[in-house]
Amino acid sequence: MSQAHFIPYRDFEEHSVEEMKKRAEKFYQLVKKRRTVRDFSDRPVPREIIETCLLAAGTAPNGANKQPWHFAVVSDPGIKKKIRIEAEKEEQEFYNRRAPEDWLEDLAPLGTDEHKPFLEKAPYLIGIFAQSYKLDENGEKEKHYYVKESVGIATGMLITALHNAGLATLTHTPSPMGFLNEILGRPAYEKPFLLLVAGYPEDGVKVPDISKKSLGEIASFI
Ligand SMILES: Cc1cc2nc3c(=O)[nH]c(=O)nc-3n(C[C@H](O)[C@H](O)[C@H](O)COP(=O)(O)O)c2cc1C
Repeated sequence: MSQAHFIPYRDFEEHSVEEMKKRAEKFYQLVKKRRTVRDFSDRPVPREIIETCLLAAGTAPNGANKQPWHFAVVSDPGIKKKIRIEAEKEEQEFYNRRAPEDWLEDLAPLGTDEHKPFLEKAPYLIGIFAQSYKLDENGEKEKHYYVKESVGIATGMLITALHNAGLATLTHTPSPMGFLNEILGRPAYEKPFLLLVAGYPEDGVKVPDISKKSLGEIASFI
């Protein structure tokens, strides 16, 4: 017997073709302005904005609707400092020992190094965790599906929501990131996916002069 229960999809909005073209172009122009920023201001950001953007991320499509993510939002200066110390330890290793030469060459145009002052300065660090499974109240494992894909989509939506709200972000992946579980008190079955830094950019911030591939390079119409 089917357990499926359906409701009418009344929220779907249809637009004229002209309107669709305008909306598609407007959205492209909006997201085109997003850049990863690596110098943040310490200007406070109301928590409500972060909360609404997280709700937007939580609407992401995901495997079997298990919503296998957790967002640990850090604004506490002491915890941010702990994260910076541990991240810089890993980054020190990465830039000076672990990273293969070609990876360092690919990173050179971005001007990144092991110093991460933004981890203390930005108002919010969002630790994004991927739940490989979930433990229910009886300690039984509940399976999750397509976890990385699902969390990746939710993260993309969060980045876009924050950009749309008027905030800058930095997708940060100190590797390995296991220290985030300990500092943020997350269980072992949650894998740190990435650390998203959010806030206002520093006054006069500069970004790497890089470009995006053309439509012909990223898509084919068959
Ligand atoms: C999965 C992922 C990991 C990243 N890790 C880092 C990182 O650890 N440090 C950093 O400075 N930028 C990191 N970035 C940002 C990329 O370098 C940046 O998105 C890319 O250079 C394109 O620039 P744009 O975001 O301004 O378009 C990461 C981005 C992604 C998607």
